[in-house]
Amino acid sequence: MKKVIVTGGAGFIGSHTIVQLHAAGYSPIVVDTFVNSDRRIIGRLERIVGQKIPTYEVDCCDRDAVEGVLQREADVLGVIHFAAHKAVGASVKNPLDYFRNNLGSLGSVLEAMLGSGVKLFVFSSSCTVYGQPDTLPVTETSPIKAAESPYGRTKQMCEDIINDVVASGADLRAVTLRYFNPVGAHPSALIGELPLGTPENLVPYITQTAVGLRERLTVFGNDYPTSDGTCVRDYIHVLDLASAHVRALAWLQARTGAPPVNEVFNVGTGRGTSVLEAITAFEKVSGTKLNYTMGSRRPGDVIETYADVTKAQEQLQWRAKLSIEDAMADAYRWQLALEANPL
Ligand code: UFG
Repeated sequence: MKKVIVTGGAGFIGSHTIVQLHAAGYSPIVVDTFVNSDRRIIGRLERIVGQKIPTYEVDCCDRDAVEGVLQREADVLGVIHFAAHKAVGASVKNPLDYFRNNLGSLGSVLEAMLGSGVKLFVFSSSCTVYGQPDTLPVTETSPIKAAESPYGRTKQMCEDIINDVVASGADLRAVTLRYFNPVGAHPSALIGELPLGTPENLVPYITQTAVGLRERLTVFGNDYPTSDGTCVRDYIHVLDLASAHVRALAWLQARTGAPPVNEVFNVGTGRGTSVLEAITAFEKVSGTKLNYTMGSRRPGDVIETYADVTKAQEQLQWRAKLSIEDAMADAYRWQLALEANPL
């Protein structure tokens, strides 16, 4: 049994990682508060993997409760820590909530692990730590810029916390994955992204517009110094991103007994896609015309970013296999399924 605790396992990236962990022969265990995720996702996950998934409704800020899960399960190989608040806009309005939750949960999960002898840790970070990079593509050694939001700051601070714990000599081996823009859904259309309220992110906004839940998409700025004037991102299919966590875990397993470490990897496709190119990809695979208009720039937006993924390719033997078209097709199928068969 290779038991892996997945905090935030009912969330967007967490749920897809459960699927990929199961496919790779691990036994995933969900720890989630269901505050920003839906309990019914667990039943859908169980349909996909064809077996029960142990699930604990636990707030990761509660160290004793997390320790209780680690002790009850026993022989836990490692923890993949997704559980966190993630809305950039909300973090600007409620910074203390973001600091309390995102830093508090990391601290208590690490304390619970060290107290229970669980040594392998994979952390969810973000390309937001790079801000607007000076050179592209962005490598793991590119400078960390002043964060644009309290959310981004929590990711930077969490990375520092993990580094400090490792530097203290604690018996911990960690991988920090800096995600670029996760999009798409499982091709079964049983799981996908479930934005709370009006989506902040591009792809859920596109799919909700296509099914008539939103009137039109506003493109935030078309006067940027990019090929077509719109912002450029590295959109990565969530299933590819989920696989990177499995590879990270295997990489850590190979280091059992080695000195404490926190190794950082970019997780993207290595390709930049503009907002207009993303819309075109959606229109192509959906066979629909998207209602959109050009609008003003969104404050805090990075103009252009995409990953150098050489390090993950070489050390994790991982690379993204799916395209933006695959992601758009899966995201649209998920949105249509959600309309036909709501949770
Ligand atoms: N966009 C629009 N219209 C919308 C929504 C988004 O034009 O309605 C544009 C944005 O301006 C941006 C692109 O689509 O150019 C992607 O925007 P997202 O909000 O989907 O993604 P971001 O790159 O802004 O944010 C993502 C993650 C954050 C993370 C950030 C780091 O969602 O968690 O990357 O750069 F902090």
